[in-house]
Amino acid sequence: MKARVLSGMQPTGNLHIGNYLGALKTWAKIQYDYESIFCIVDLHAITVQQDPARLRAKIEEIAAIYLAAGIDPKHSAIMVQSAVPAHAELAWMLTCVTPMGWLSRMTQFKAKSAAQETIGDGLFQYPVLMAADILLYQAAIVPVGEDQAQHLELTRDIAQRFNSMFGDTFVMPATELPAIGARVMGLDDPLTKMSKSSSGAGHAVALLDPPERIRKTIMRATTDSNPSVSFEGMGPGVENLLNIYQAFSGCSDGEIRTAFEGLRYGDLKKRVADMVISHLEPFQKRYREITAKPGYVAGVLREGAERVAPIANSTVELVKRKMGLYSADSRKA
Ligand code: TRP
Repeated sequence: MKARVLSGMQPTGNLHIGNYLGALKTWAKIQYDYESIFCIVDLHAITVQQDPARLRAKIEEIAAIYLAAGIDPKHSAIMVQSAVPAHAELAWMLTCVTPMGWLSRMTQFKAKSAAQETIGDGLFQYPVLMAADILLYQAAIVPVGEDQAQHLELTRDIAQRFNSMFGDTFVMPATELPAIGARVMGLDDPLTKMSKSSSGAGHAVALLDPPERIRKTIMRATTDSNPSVSFEGMGPGVENLLNIYQAFSGCSDGEIRTAFEGLRYGDLKKRVADMVISHLEPFQKRYREITAKPGYVAGVLREGAERVAPIANSTVELVKRKMGLYSADSRKA
C-alpha cells in the first residue's frame, strides 16, 4: 500500500507564483508516488472574517487552480474540508487533549492575533484543526512550507499525547518536510515571503494575472543599487528574480550564471517576465478550459469528498471508541 500524502491551502487571497513554485508544482509531481489528498481548507479560512460570497467563489477557484496545476483527479482526491464533517468532529476531540499552553506558543497565532482587534476562539484552535486534517487520514507525508513546520510539530505532539493516553491510534506524520520547491519572496520586499494576503500592487504575481500585468509587476521589482547582475555579491531582490527564473526554467546554477552574469537589471527583468508569462499562459488556458465546463469542478469536489469520507469516518469511529464516546458500534449494539 502506498503511503498517504495530504496537504491543503486556504481559499483566501489570490494564489501566486510562490504558491505554485513552492507547493502546487511539487504536489503535481509527487502525487503518483502516494495515495494523495489535496484539501481546500475553508474551515481554516473562517478563523478570520471572510465575505461569504467571496469565500464560496474562492473554493471552486482554488479547486480549478489545483487542476490547472496538474493535480490529476483520477488519481488524487481534491476535496473541500467542510464537505467532510469528520474534520470538525475530530478537531473537537483533539481540542480536548491539547494543552492551551501548546497553542499559545504558536508563532502564527501570535502574529495573526496581533493584527486583529477581537479574535475568535477558532484562530486559537487553528493548529488543532490542521492536526485533525492530517491525523484523520493517517497521512505519513505533509508537503508544506517552512512556515508550517511548527504546526506540523504540534500535530506530532498531539498524536503522541493521544496515543499515550488512549493507546496506539494515529500514524505519526514525518517531521521532515519533503524537499519542496523554491521559496519566492515579495517582489516589492524581497525580505518577506510572497504572501497571498498582501494587497499591495507590485508584491506578487498572481497565477491568474493577465500577461501585461505580470510584466508590469516584474519590471517594477525591487533590486539593489548595482546596475547589473554580479554573482560576487547581489541583493535579495536580484537573487529572488534569479530564483524565480531558475524554478520556472529548470536551468542549473551554471546555466543561470552564464546567462545572467553582467546583465543589466532592465534586461534581467525582461527575461524573467518572458519566462513567467510563457509558463503561466498554458496554465491559464487550462484554467479557462476547466472553468468553462459547467459543473466540472463541482463534480471533482463531490467525487473527492466521496472518496475520502470512508477513511475519515473510520478514523472518527476509532477515536470515539478509544475515548469512550458513543460510536456507531455502540448505537448498533
Ligand atoms: N495551515 C496551512 C497553511 O496555511 C493550511 C492547512 C490546513 C494544511 N490544514 C492542512 C496544510 C493540512 C497541510 C495539511 O498553509
